[in-house]
Amino acid sequence: MGTERALARVTLNPELRIGDVDPRLYGSFIEHLGRAVYGGIYEPGHQEADEDGFRRDVMQMVRELKVPLIRYPGGNFVSAYRWEDGVGPRDRRPRRLDPAWRSVETNQIGVDEFVSWCRKVDAEPLLVVNLGTRGVEAAVDLLEYCNHPGGSYWSDLRRSNGSLEPHGIRSWCLGNEMDGPWQIGHKTAAEYGRLASETAKAMRRIDPGIELVACGSSHQGMPTFGEWEETVLDLCYEQVDYISLHSYYGNPEGDTRAFLAKSLNMDGFISSVVAICDAVKARKRSRKTLFLAFDEWNVWYHSKEADRRQDPWQVAPPLLEDDYNLEDALLVGCMLITLLKHADRVKIGCLAQLVNVIAPIRTVTGGGSWRQTIYYPFYHASRFGRGVALDVRATSPSYEDREMGPVPLLEAVATHDPDAAAVTLFAVNRGTDTDLRLEGDVRGLPGYHVLDHLVMVGEPRDANTLSEPERVVPRAAGSARVDDGVLVAYLPRLSWNVIRLRGPR
Ligand code: AHR
Repeated sequence: MGTERALARVTLNPELRIGDVDPRLYGSFIEHLGRAVYGGIYEPGHQEADEDGFRRDVMQMVRELKVPLIRYPGGNFVSAYRWEDGVGPRDRRPRRLDPAWRSVETNQIGVDEFVSWCRKVDAEPLLVVNLGTRGVEAAVDLLEYCNHPGGSYWSDLRRSNGSLEPHGIRSWCLGNEMDGPWQIGHKTAAEYGRLASETAKAMRRIDPGIELVACGSSHQGMPTFGEWEETVLDLCYEQVDYISLHSYYGNPEGDTRAFLAKSLNMDGFISSVVAICDAVKARKRSRKTLFLAFDEWNVWYHSKEADRRQDPWQVAPPLLEDDYNLEDALLVGCMLITLLKHADRVKIGCLAQLVNVIAPIRTVTGGGSWRQTIYYPFYHASRFGRGVALDVRATSPSYEDREMGPVPLLEAVATHDPDAAAVTLFAVNRGTDTDLRLEGDVRGLPGYHVLDHLVMVGEPRDANTLSEPERVVPRAAGSARVDDGVLVAYLPRLSWNVIRLRGPR
């Protein structure tokens, strides 16, 4: 069967504003899980290790991604974590069993080391407190340890551990996936809502400058979805700033079209949570608008079978090491576009995760490192998708998906950075056998020209590996041009496209 061609249209106009893009939309996540920390960001003795044992090759790639915010230390891990185990002299830190991932945690990295790694990669930490096995007291102690200047037990302990200045951590999550029966210390919505409210109240008394994220549903398919958000927010709406959303998608059946439709599920999830937040706001007659933190999202399925075969109680076993391919990168691109389409309400996003564990960056312990396919759409969005998100009013033919209904071939959004006179169009062609001729109305951008058109294209299962790290990479090979107020571009089947325009200044 040959490749067909179809027409898609967009409009690029700075007046079609969705909202300001919060740089924290391009956050990520490092959990004490598998080889994310040990063998990922930290590997003393490795030839790339710096004076603190952090891998320079990994830091270089993280810096390249311009990740502004990194969630830590979990994930499921945090719900049985004692943060005190990870501070102070390393030789006195306990080895503990981590019941979440059934691994051994050596505690050689804790909050101080993580904060210092964040400083090296120009990111802010987004710390998660344990509301599974612990509660108000441990959360408040950790906040005092991190943010209080000195003159109290925990702040002086931080100082004596070498950090004279407070860490000044602004963003905090109140637990992780507390709706999930798999979570250590799982709670009902009413139990969690009360605990979140009381923890928030106490934390704000220690540091009124912090921002707090309450746990929403672990995914939209949870049986308690909706009811969970309503009950939790009913109990803590005025105490928190964000509610979290998580979504992972997979393609175990190998159906590319159905897989690429999954970002529509994410889109509906966001709209539903916005509606619930606003309904609670109305019922409470509140003046405060709640924002969304999509603080775990990605493709996750490749490694599930291999993980079942791992023996328990290893230190840093290779868990959740998904090998990503082109179609995964296209879905990640569609998910990034979806987040930008909701930039007015989604202010925090965390690609889960960053290194080795379902990650754009992979390493070999004792060896090299490489960029997986999903690295590239994230890199482009993070570097070029700043400023104001623009609705592009995309139209294109669609295909029918059993679960999602009509799925447009073209998924697209744009951003406008007025200071740089820069407009960037992000576009995925979901078509498995249809190329798109894109026509863009750019009459709202007089004097703008195409700076470049980056394209990442290939076969759905193409992937990068340590020995072939550049098999799937974007190339500045696109055809986009502006002629008489019309942007014309060719978007090949199964492609990720970034069309950058520049205007007069
Ligand atoms: O990111 C992997 C895991 O996925 C996290 O630990 C958990 O929060 C989620 O279920």
